[in-house]
Amino acid sequence: MRGIVYTGGTAEVTDELTVGDPGPTEVRVAIGAAGVCHSDLSVINGTIPWRSPSVLGHEGAGVVEAVGSEVRSVKPGDHVVLSTLQSCGTCRACSTGHPTWCVRTLGNVDQPFTFRGEPASNFAGTSVFAERTVVKEVQAVKISKEVPLTSACLIGCGVVTGVGAVLNRARVRPGETAAIFGVGGVGLNVIQALRLVGASRIIAVDTLAAKETLATQFGATHFVDASANDPVAAIRDLVPPGPARLSGALGWTGGVTWSFDCVGHPAVLRNALDVLDWGGTALAIGIPPQGTEVAVDVNALAYVDRGLLGCRYGSSRPHHDIPLMVELYLSGRLMLDELVTERKPLEGFSEIVSDMEAGKLARGVLTF
Ligand SMILES: NC(=O)c1ccc[n+]([C@@H]2O[C@H](COP(=O)([O-])OP(=O)(O)OC[C@H]3O[C@@H](n4cnc5c(N)ncnc54)[C@H](O)[C@@H]3O)[C@@H](O)[C@H]2O)c1
Ligand SMILES: [Zn+2]
Ligand SMILES: [Zn+2]
Repeated sequence: MRGIVYTGGTAEVTDELTVGDPGPTEVRVAIGAAGVCHSDLSVINGTIPWRSPSVLGHEGAGVVEAVGSEVRSVKPGDHVVLSTLQSCGTCRACSTGHPTWCVRTLGNVDQPFTFRGEPASNFAGTSVFAERTVVKEVQAVKISKEVPLTSACLIGCGVVTGVGAVLNRARVRPGETAAIFGVGGVGLNVIQALRLVGASRIIAVDTLAAKETLATQFGATHFVDASANDPVAAIRDLVPPGPARLSGALGWTGGVTWSFDCVGHPAVLRNALDVLDWGGTALAIGIPPQGTEVAVDVNALAYVDRGLLGCRYGSSRPHHDIPLMVELYLSGRLMLDELVTERKPLEGFSEIVSDMEAGKLARGVLTF
């Protein structure tokens, strides 16, 4: 079958893949569509170390083709969005509603594929850049057939990550203010979730001025072109201290309640901390190379209740959040179709990558 294989330093489109039958608790899915997330590019460029050969892609949706003998929640013909979390369902994290903290969900690698006759690994437990993949039952979340698979696939990472960061991790309340660094597939979903919950000022920041149109379409109230402006100064100008606020001895007043680093660069995360109002919190969503550190004056946190939170996969509970995203889409309150700016067959992967790097896309989607 066809797919995209990471062979170490590069990705190859191939028709020399096979995938095995599902085990008792597994599901085989015929992929209908797959979004290209920056994390796939990060494997190819070495930011996220991964073994090779492996089948890329982790943002996908498709149709169940075969199920193992113990599978009860889906059957052949069902439409599913694939979650990357192979959560065990029985540990303390799973039992308290935090599958993203389940130790079984990170770094686990299976080899359901062969590439040119040799075993090949999956990526992020999913591998949706292939005509078919095999996942655990817990990863296949049934959805309504009303959602086109080209839109549904994006829920599998970008949507759940961005919307989940706002709803689950930050829990932004109406009227609060926010800055979003990086108007890509993840950042746009942070922006539309902020609009959904009634944030008052939604300030989008990108180094590509052309991203302003998309940012505004998804709900940004302001846009800062970080290639031409100091984003920290610009955001402080947009959200000055309130009239009742005295300028304190530390001189840090004004700024936003929430900031979201959807880029994954230490300078961006530092900016995200520097734009916070007293009591504000920054969320680290972007993934830089391992070992990346950010320096911060501890006083800038400790004296004024500022915080920094990591956020993986929108701190989501996929069997709750994926149906929720579908419901919000079907009721017209979450934009998915508008995220798809380009569709191409697998052979168009490198074009999607270069358009993504040129800032032309919200998301590029591979079709099968
Ligand atoms: N934590 C998680 O669970 C999770 C999930 C998905 C993706 N990610 C990570 O999130 C990041 C974003 O992913 P994506 O798919 O949205 O990427 P993307 O390529 O679609 O978008 C990135 C955006 O950031 C902009 N950008 C680059 N440098 C910038 C800077 N210095 N200041 C402001 N904007 C800048 C780019 O122009 C682009 O618009 C990646 O690091 C990805 O690996 C994390
Ligand atoms: Zn992703
Ligand atoms: Zn668990």
